[in-house]
Amino acid sequence: MIIETHGLTKQFNGSGGCKDISLSVTEGRIFGFLGPNGAGKSTFVKTLLGLLIPTGGQARIMGQPIGNIKVRSKVGYLPELFRYHDWLTGEELLKYHAQLFHLSKGEYVKKISNVLEIVGLLGKEKQKVGTYSKGMQQRIGLAVALINDPLLIFLDEPTSALDPIGRKEVRDIIIELKKQGKTVFLNSHLLSEVESVCDEIAIINHGNLVVSGSWQDLQVGELQMEISINNYSQQIGEKLKLLAIKLEKKHNNVFLSLKNEQDVNDALKIIIENSGVITKVQTKRQSLEDLFMFWIKKEGKERC
Ligand SMILES: Nc1ncnc2c1ncn2[C@@H]1O[C@H](COP(=O)(O)OP(=O)(O)OP(=O)(O)O)[C@@H](O)[C@H]1O
Ligand SMILES: [Mg+2]
Repeated sequence: MIIETHGLTKQFNGSGGCKDISLSVTEGRIFGFLGPNGAGKSTFVKTLLGLLIPTGGQARIMGQPIGNIKVRSKVGYLPELFRYHDWLTGEELLKYHAQLFHLSKGEYVKKISNVLEIVGLLGKEKQKVGTYSKGMQQRIGLAVALINDPLLIFLDEPTSALDPIGRKEVRDIIIELKKQGKTVFLNSHLLSEVESVCDEIAIINHGNLVVSGSWQDLQVGELQMEISINNYSQQIGEKLKLLAIKLEKKHNNVFLSLKNEQDVNDALKIIIENSGVITKVQTKRQSLEDLFMFWIKKEGKERC
């Protein structure tokens, strides 16, 4: 595990922040940390980075306790509300950060043009950061987070200032980072962003961890399945009825409510083994928004 926390807590005079968070992040995965405004996402990340001192619990990054200098050199961080030095050019800003990581001139010249290309700012590096648009500021922030070729990258709302094209580009960058074997910890309240790139997620609300796991682990309720069968027979219907919570049939279409994904396979097997010819299969789960609301409300009820 590249990140492991046990009861990690950071509160401000006994309130706010994040409380008793225990989670682990596997190396090479994209981990989405999801929660509404004020849920405690940024506090958690800043505490992991050693920028805030925890008020309780423990955490390890790359096997080392929070704040380890060697580990810091392998970590990248894009803060949520950053303001870099307006009077520096993009290139000077990157050079400054590269030097903080003790990169030699030979190393940083190459690295700077590499990260500028990744974030789409090549050609804009001689321009002062103060003259950058909001989207360009976010891109240069991302470039800074990548300058040390980190193994683990924390991105706190990386697309908040970006237009739809920019958002897509950042999503592609995140996927590319994963391909390179890097781990990305992504703070976001944008459900679609988290859904499209994350392997695992955790939901936080009012500072509490509500749930964590893969998308599949977070699923609640029944799974709806629609199958079109050319030669539906009574035998198929009877066997499917034994498997499904509910079955409805309209013409060649069978609508099933199933317990889980395993039952999808079993339903298909029943049809094939009974000489059914399947022409269409569709499964539907609750929308991501419904799931998110379910878990957030659950936490609210448990708190009362
Ligand atoms: N320095 C601080 N002093 C006092 N309270 C704080 C401080 N920083 C954060 N908080 C409180 O802790 C809670 C969590 O804040 P945090 O910024 O971690 O949330 P967040 O999930 O990142 O929200 P957002 O999506 O709006 O960025 C909030 O109630 C906030 O007011
Ligand atoms: Mg935040």
